[in-house]
Amino acid sequence: MSDAKRLAGEKAIDYVEDGMVVGVGTGSTVAYFIDALAGIRDRIAGAVSSSEQSTQRLRGHGIEVLDLNACGPIPLYVDGADECDPGKRLIKGGGAALTREKIIAEAATTFVCIIDPSKEVPVLGRFPLPLEVVPMARSLVAREIVAMTGGQPVWRQGTVTDNGNWVLDIHGLSITDPVGLEQSLNQVPGVVSVGLFARRPADVVIAGGTPPLVR
Ligand code: 5RP
Repeated sequence: MSDAKRLAGEKAIDYVEDGMVVGVGTGSTVAYFIDALAGIRDRIAGAVSSSEQSTQRLRGHGIEVLDLNACGPIPLYVDGADECDPGKRLIKGGGAALTREKIIAEAATTFVCIIDPSKEVPVLGRFPLPLEVVPMARSLVAREIVAMTGGQPVWRQGTVTDNGNWVLDIHGLSITDPVGLEQSLNQVPGVVSVGLFARRPADVVIAGGTPPLVR
């Protein structure tokens, strides 16, 4: 699978234009993108990073990491996903970076999602849906999730996000209305962000292979 991830990450370089600020996601597929980006680092203005993990890798390659507040709209955001449906709607947050990823996706004009083909599903929900929650609200949110969705929230113990919060993973969902579920879950007090990227889906999906499939 890592070969598929590498091929997807390298293909995303096609979307990088000279002088761009590039939004960079998090995960093992994105790591291949960052490594490929290093080869053209002198042609870009810098990167906006979605996690401490990606920031370290970018800086390790000598790529300048910029503050989103200083950048305005970002022309390109490249990130992986845990699941992708035919509408390019995503589950993300397996690496617990969902909140910053969502912020950069929202700021981006074009969101290119890079995956290995096993992430493609007809209906989202086989991968447990991550929610970033304020620690004191963990039990409250879990109870409300059960009542609202019938899914089973599981606390990802030991994981603290870059924002100092915790993660609940909701198992047992079949997400037939991703936009509606994203909106409903966002209303629960204590939910910082929902790992459903449906209101703002990807614009382009690259599934790694030889050749990579772009849709
Ligand atoms: C991190 C994410 C990642 O994009 C997602 O977990 C996919 O990771 P990988 O490329 O390692 O399979 O959402 O929060």
